[in-house]
Amino acid sequence: MSEQRLDLDSHPQTALVTGATSGIGRAVALKLADDRFAVLVHGRDAARGEQTVKEIVSAGGQARFVAADLGSAVDVQRLVDEAGDADVLVNNGGFSWFGPTPELDVDTFDALFASNVRSAYFLVAGIAPKMAARGGGSIINLSSMAGQIGLAGGAAYGATKACLASLTRSWAAEFSPSGVRVNAIAPGPVYTGGSDPALIESLGTTTLLDRAAGPEEIAEVIAFLASPKASYVTGAVVAADGGRTAV
Ligand SMILES: NC(=O)c1ccc[n+]([C@@H]2O[C@H](COP(=O)([O-])OP(=O)(O)OC[C@H]3O[C@@H](n4cnc5c(N)ncnc54)[C@H](OP(=O)(O)O)[C@@H]3O)[C@@H](O)[C@H]2O)c1
Repeated sequence: MSEQRLDLDSHPQTALVTGATSGIGRAVALKLADDRFAVLVHGRDAARGEQTVKEIVSAGGQARFVAADLGSAVDVQRLVDEAGDADVLVNNGGFSWFGPTPELDVDTFDALFASNVRSAYFLVAGIAPKMAARGGGSIINLSSMAGQIGLAGGAAYGATKACLASLTRSWAAEFSPSGVRVNAIAPGPVYTGGSDPALIESLGTTTLLDRAAGPEEIAEVIAFLASPKASYVTGAVVAADGGRTAV
């Protein structure tokens, strides 16, 4: 066993994964725990959160559930207070809304931007300066293929995901000179609880690989971006979309 591995065993690095009670976030939490991170499993649903924690612990890992509503600025600040010393932050939590533009009401529009964009902004505002002060850290934001191409019915959701790509570049400019890497991943369609499976399947047929992804395929890329293997990668928006945005 290497010395580095021994160090990690006695002082595990901590990762906060928002939205880790389901879908991509849950797969990321399991993968990062497998990579020896102590994982803060965030979400709203305590039962599903505890289930993720239980799976991690029974596999020999370390995890704890933290509940917070990403749509609430007060809750996001409490999450910062609980997770301020995280070495890795995965801004994954959020939701999508697809439908004709005139059918999106103001409250849902505001909730989309609060949960998907504002929460990530204030988590980074609270956590990245501490990473910078320690001289390192890795932040991964969940953008989307939907933030790069025009999808009928996806105007507002796509805009939230385009925001995350833009924030990623600005935060890399702001924090990477202090050693904090900031990247985004832009998945294509992924089978999770977050979207209608028929929509995901039909979007999958528009990709070069002619299928949607499993959450584990996205978690692998996020775990790479979190790891020292990605030591020269910052400010990037990594497509994991079966080639959809390449053509
Ligand atoms: N699935 C796709 O095709 C796809 C493609 C590209 C990008 N993405 C992005 O990937 C991320 C995860 O998506 P997913 O498909 O895995 O979704 P999912 O299965 O619906 O899971 C969403 C997670 O976010 C949490 N969450 C949502 N709103 C929240 C809020 N207001 N406060 C606290 N937690 C909240 C949920 O927690 P609770 O259930 O505990 O409330 C859940 O853990 C999202 O940012 C999404 O935009 C997904």
